[in-house]
Amino acid sequence: MQATIAVLEGDAVGPEIMAEGLKVLEAIAEAGGHKVSLLRLPFGAGSYFANGSCFPADTKQACDDADAILKAPAGLPLDQMDRIPVDQRPEPAILELRQRYTTFANYRPVVLPEALASFSPLRPELIAGGVDILMIRELVGGIYFGEKVEGEHTQQRRASDECIYTAEEVEQVARVAFEEARARGSRLTVVHKANVLATGRFWQKLVADLAPSYADVEMEFILVDNAAYQLMINPRQFNGVMLLENMQGDILSDQGGGIVGSLGLMCSASIGPDKAYYEPVHGSAPDIAGTGTANPFSMIGSVALMLDRSFGLQSESQAVWDALWGALEAGERTADLCGDNETPLSTSEFGDAVVARLTP
Ligand code: IPM
Ligand code: MN
Repeated sequence: MQATIAVLEGDAVGPEIMAEGLKVLEAIAEAGGHKVSLLRLPFGAGSYFANGSCFPADTKQACDDADAILKAPAGLPLDQMDRIPVDQRPEPAILELRQRYTTFANYRPVVLPEALASFSPLRPELIAGGVDILMIRELVGGIYFGEKVEGEHTQQRRASDECIYTAEEVEQVARVAFEEARARGSRLTVVHKANVLATGRFWQKLVADLAPSYADVEMEFILVDNAAYQLMINPRQFNGVMLLENMQGDILSDQGGGIVGSLGLMCSASIGPDKAYYEPVHGSAPDIAGTGTANPFSMIGSVALMLDRSFGLQSESQAVWDALWGALEAGERTADLCGDNETPLSTSEFGDAVVARLTP
């Protein structure tokens, strides 16, 4: 592989976990003779204060030119965020990044091997056999991108967020979900809110219309509220692929982080027609920034997804997963995953432990 990667280090714990992701990437590159050039670029609240923009023009250009984008969480403590106008904060910059590259398919694996069942707040028998759900969240449509109206524009005190889905937006992500389920030989669960929302009925209908083209895939629909409940009482029934629209996927993927015991285990890939970017699912955790306690699993896992999905390096990607899970199973864990009598590793010690398993 010869690749240029745009590295958006973000804020707070962002640079700390990014350093570990890059450590692992560099170890993989060195072992396989791959040439990786890393372009570190400003993105996030720190960039707003330094450059007047969370997503400056130079960062955009470099992302345009890069083969893939690796992004750490962005956002500073609330008192600092309050000094940034709402429409110029990191969140709209993240939406702009997604829109710029039409990264419509957001892969959020919710994985917990049976051997690590104790991480989950759920009873061990609910994890028996392990949880392995690939949540696929639609990422560039729906309510996050519709028109937003806030109070003062109208005579009444009111606000609104428009939720629009086009057929193309639904179908493109649904096809990805069917194909992933087919490739895994697993079932596909399609989440919706068709009992109340027009967009929900639209999702359900369009997905149902596609189903005959994927007759080999066992597909079922579930209402989003029931899905939230069923995820808690029997998560393993969803082992396979789940398809969710943008906001429902945002919410249920955090719930996935709860089921596996830590958002620190949640990585993601956001794939568009000609560009992909990779980031942890969680935020920048300003409360623990600088303490060396952040879990870099989510960032390292995002690197593993990138090796596979952007560069076709399946065995390298698998090696990173094996090192990550191997470290955890050997008791090498950051504080979020430690019980009372366990000694946590620091952020960088965990990164070192993963690298040590890659290059024995
Ligand atoms: C996520 C985050 C983002 C989202 C925010 C930071 C814009 O919560 O990636 O899950 O809502 O999509
Ligand atoms: Mn979220």
